[in-house]
Parts: sequence; C-alpha cells; structure tokens
Amino acid sequence: MKHDKKCVLAYSGGLDTSTIVIWLARQGYEIHAVLVDVGQQEDLSALAEKALRMGAKTAVIRDAKPLMYGSVVPYAIALGATYEGNYRLGTALARPFIALEQVRTAKALGGATLVHGATGKGNDQIRFEFAYKSLAPECPVLAPWKVWDLAGRADMIAYLHAAGVKDDFAVVKDYSLDENLWHLSVEGSELEDPEAFVNVDKVLGTVSNRFSGGPAADTAPTIVRVAFDKGVPVALDGLPIGLPQLVARLNQTYRAAPWAWDMVIENRFTGIKSRGLYINPAAKLLHAAVDGLARAVLNKPTYDHYCELGRQYGTMMYRGEYFSQQRLALEATGSALMKHLSGEVAVQLVPTPYVAQIRAPKAIFNKSLSTFERSDYAHADAAGFIHLSWLGLVGPRPAEEPDGGAVETGWDSAPDLCGDQSVSERGLVPAST
Ligand code: ARG
Repeated sequence: MKHDKKCVLAYSGGLDTSTIVIWLARQGYEIHAVLVDVGQQEDLSALAEKALRMGAKTAVIRDAKPLMYGSVVPYAIALGATYEGNYRLGTALARPFIALEQVRTAKALGGATLVHGATGKGNDQIRFEFAYKSLAPECPVLAPWKVWDLAGRADMIAYLHAAGVKDDFAVVKDYSLDENLWHLSVEGSELEDPEAFVNVDKVLGTVSNRFSGGPAADTAPTIVRVAFDKGVPVALDGLPIGLPQLVARLNQTYRAAPWAWDMVIENRFTGIKSRGLYINPAAKLLHAAVDGLARAVLNKPTYDHYCELGRQYGTMMYRGEYFSQQRLALEATGSALMKHLSGEVAVQLVPTPYVAQIRAPKAIFNKSLSTFERSDYAHADAAGFIHLSWLGLVGPRPAEEPDGGAVETGWDSAPDLCGDQSVSERGLVPAST
C-alpha cells in the first residue's frame, strides 16, 4: 500500500491540532483533516475551513453520533459503566470513533500516515493508537507531541505566530476541555494540584458556556421519570423519546445543576495520576436510575455480577480496548443482564440524585417479606437458616485449639459505665421494692 507523505489528522480545531497542521506541512506532508462530530457544541464547518486555511489539502466532517448511540452509549448507560467507580467515561467513549473515521479516510486514500494530537502523558494516545493498530495495522502512526521540540502551550502559540497564523489561541481558557455527547471534561490549572483547594463554582462559571449550548432553564424539574426497556432509556416523564434526544436534553437542562459533576482523581493507563472535573448530568442521573432498577430486578449474585461488569466495561473503554475480543464478550454478557432491566424509575435530583420510586414488572423485591408489619413470613424459619449458614461459613472452633476453643477476641471488655454501683443504686431505674 502506498503511504508516501499523505497523512490523515484527527483535527479538533484547537491549539494543538492547529499547530500540528503547520508542522506537518513543514515536514512535507499532504494533510487530510478529519473532524469528527462526537457531540461537541462547536461550529465544525468553521473549523474545517480553518484547517484548510492553515494548509490542509482536504477537510471532512463526519457525524459519529449515530454510531456511538447505536453501539457504545447504550452499554455505558445500562451497565452503569465507570472507571474506578466515579469517572463515568466520556472522552474514552469517543476516541475509538474518531480513530475509525481517520482510518476510513486513510483507506479511501489508498493508505496514509495516521496522526493524532495527543501528548505522551495521557490516555488518549493509547486509545487512538490501539484503534489504529486494530483497524489499520499497515498504516504508519505519527504523534507529533512525541517528536517535535515544542514543549507546551506557549511554544505552540509562538510557533503559530511565527508562521503568520492570526487566530488568537492565546484566549483559550486556563483549562484543558474535552466535550462530547456524554460529558465535558475539565482538567489543568488548579485541578492539577490536589493540594490546591478547588472552588467548583468558579470552574463551572469559567466553562459554563461550553456544555450542550445555552444556559439551563432555571425552572428545571427536580424529579425526572425515566422508563427503561432492556436497560436502555426509552421515555422521559412518560413521553417516548429517542436516546440521542434524551441524553442531549438531560445534559442541556441540568448542565449547571449543583449535582451535575464529579470531581475525580484517576489513575491513567500511563500510570500518571490526574485530577479532573467531569460535567455529566445525563450520565449521573441515568446511572442512579438504572442502578435502582437493577437492585429491584436482579438477585444478589446477578446484581454483584452486574456491578463488576460495569467496572470491567468502563475499564475496557477507558483503556481504549474498543476494537477487541474483550469488548464483544463484555457486551454479550451485558446484553444478557440488560434484558431484565425494564421499568420506570423516578429520580429525585436535589440535593443529589436518588431513586425515589421504581415500577418494574419483573421486580423480585417482595414487600410482604421485607415489611415490618404482620405478614405470612415465619420468623422461626430463620433459626435453621442461621445455624446452617454459621456451620458452613463460620463454624465451630476445633476442639484441639490450645484454649479449648474458648473465644479470645483480643479486645478489652467494654467499660462499665455504672462503675461499682448498680444501675438501681445510681437511680437510673427505680429500685424494686
Ligand atoms: N481523563 C479523562 C480521560 O482520560 C479525560 C481526558 C480528556 N482529554 C483531553 N484531551 N482533554 O478519559
């Protein structure tokens, strides 16, 4: 296959990939910029024009949202997928689909070098390059951050100015942002230093115009009802709605809500720890709702398995292992569990989302068993259950133990609050006559 000096760049329009266009041109590359719509609220046509102005030979815009909604997003919702329990993904969901569009363009060109703008520190380089290797092992890969001698933002701005680029990248905010249909990630500045006190309101104020467009309605309802069919949301407040519309509406409506974010210290795949703020109201609300549903319809071992699967799926996505055997296996298991997750969940949002009500036809929650009131349950049955469970799980102490099996806890006995006096002498209870 012929690669020559053709390259396909994952172009975002930001400082890094704009600098890369100039740099690639100077290395003699014919540049094909690919802008992938993963739900970022940006004028992609304007960005495509910018790529051409900077020297790209072609610039295409591809809409990956339908593919994402048809593949990874339902699992991210239904399995409550997280990395390390509180990063609800986002960037990690989108990267494989950006890489996929690059590869499609490269193949249409008859082969090309695949270029990304991720640094050598983060997860994104791995996500891009794992996808490239899986989808187009024949294409060379170029990550300018790993070979050029520009060291940071100031260097890139100086480089662009020297090249006569007029765009004012210096106004780019303090934070490193990444927006898509699932979240807005905010990293950098004071978030980089865990010893720095983070004023979330201040951070949110700085980035508020970036998430799903326009301010949230002040009158946003504080109770939301979501109906799920096999783990996938199908109705909002009683009205049927498509998944893309539902996710976009929740993100739009609640992006400025006080509960809409998670602040996370995460262990990157590269081994570096980092702290970030993730604004993801739809994810947070839907994860609470689907967990409530799963608790009502799955039995104990199945629910445990479901929770583990959400972590496994989240870790797989976080590490960029999308084009893999593992993903297919996890999704097959996920689908088997998701088929139980149908019903409607009411989520109360304030002060923090909680499940207030669950109506599920297949719920195995048995209120006549859990009630504190009179029921048919035979309390005496529990004695046999406890005895046999104790025998199997704890068991009697072997007779040959040196203390003859006497219980040795190693703890002092709890202090006697009454001292030498009996309770009645201290007047705590009336002395009997
Ligand atoms: N830490 C998150 C992740 O690894 C967010 C990364 C955001 N990427 C970016 N280029 N700003 O998924």
